[in-house]
Amino acid sequence: MDAVSIINKKKAGQELTSSEIKYFFNGYLNGEIPDYQMSSLLMAICLKDMTDMEIFHLTDTFIDSGTKLDLSKIDGIKVEKHSTGGIGDKTTLVVAPVLASCGLKVAKMSGRGLGVTGGTIDKLESIPGFKTNLTLDEFIDKTNRVGFSICESSDELTPLDKKVYALRDVTGTVDSIPLIASSVMSKKIASGADKIFIDIKLGKGAFIKSHDEALRFKDIVERIGYRYKKEVRAEISDMDTPLGNSVGNSLEVLEAINVLQGKEGNNLTKLCSKIIVDILMMAKNISEEEAIKEAGEAMSSGKAYQKFLEFVKEQDGDIEQLKVSDKTIEIKSPKGGVITAIDALKIGTIANQLGAGRTKLEDEIDPTVGVYLNKLVGDEVKEGDVICTLYIGAKEEYDDPLEAFTIE
Ligand code: URA
Repeated sequence: MDAVSIINKKKAGQELTSSEIKYFFNGYLNGEIPDYQMSSLLMAICLKDMTDMEIFHLTDTFIDSGTKLDLSKIDGIKVEKHSTGGIGDKTTLVVAPVLASCGLKVAKMSGRGLGVTGGTIDKLESIPGFKTNLTLDEFIDKTNRVGFSICESSDELTPLDKKVYALRDVTGTVDSIPLIASSVMSKKIASGADKIFIDIKLGKGAFIKSHDEALRFKDIVERIGYRYKKEVRAEISDMDTPLGNSVGNSLEVLEAINVLQGKEGNNLTKLCSKIIVDILMMAKNISEEEAIKEAGEAMSSGKAYQKFLEFVKEQDGDIEQLKVSDKTIEIKSPKGGVITAIDALKIGTIANQLGAGRTKLEDEIDPTVGVYLNKLVGDEVKEGDVICTLYIGAKEEYDDPLEAFTIE
């Protein structure tokens, strides 16, 4: 077996065997296969696709590259949710405390944002003092006591995915269904939850751009779950438009708090409710009506918000010190009409240009900057109305925000 013939086989659109996949990818992890050969195979996979069996073998190889978490010391039903990456997606910060208030356990390992998509770890680190780097014992102990805990993915879990993902990001090989499915599912299986919910983002601001691709992704991740005896539910959600009003780390934490306090009612609230209800139905085997009632009570009683505060304190965060930049620029509508679209990719790009995200892994982010959408899709505007507000830090070069809005 040798690397070049494996690359050529995939380039010709043929199916790789389990041993060829293991040889190549494990060889990359231990340094025997260089970046350029791995990049070449990844590009061949992007262009020629993989069969379901190849995707299963690749997922197995990622999982076997590290340790699997043993969550048996956490009492009760352990659930996980994962999104394939979006703009303004702070659903985890709402979903986890509500589920914990309903008696489920959420032991969630999350990632940082890369490119225009945000990451839960960056959002949480905008809370001064918040500790995302937990030992496994701390993670399990906090999940048992609070009901949920969120920490950064450990290096021991699927290290191969980490190395391959970093290479994909800089070689134009992220948007491939086999590569995304094996990457996401290997992490979820290795992190040990019983029930897994996958939020498949579809649209301009997502890696998956077509409905057919999203359906294929749904089918394959549910079948990977079945192979590993995990219940997986995957649902498709819109990512043409940013989720909620805010994009940027502190701004998003504040918005999540508003949702937990029942103050918001937009596409973010709707998606959070859907995810919560689906997970409750799956985990507790209850009807949709019962799930809606349980979730509603957790929110309206204030229990979910208290859970969030307890979680922040438990991980050493000081929510009182959460700050957004005090330097703002208001962007006004050039005409009257109705907002018919807000381009998620453009808003995500501007938030990144302001410093809310990274273009390279080692970039520092500014948690206080971002974009606040004063108007959302469907809103009527008059000429001169503020349609969005930019929270600015040291970086002051950005695209024209008006290009993100369609006003008709
Ligand atoms: N999220 C992941 O974890 N992996 C991908 O490949 C894409 C999104």
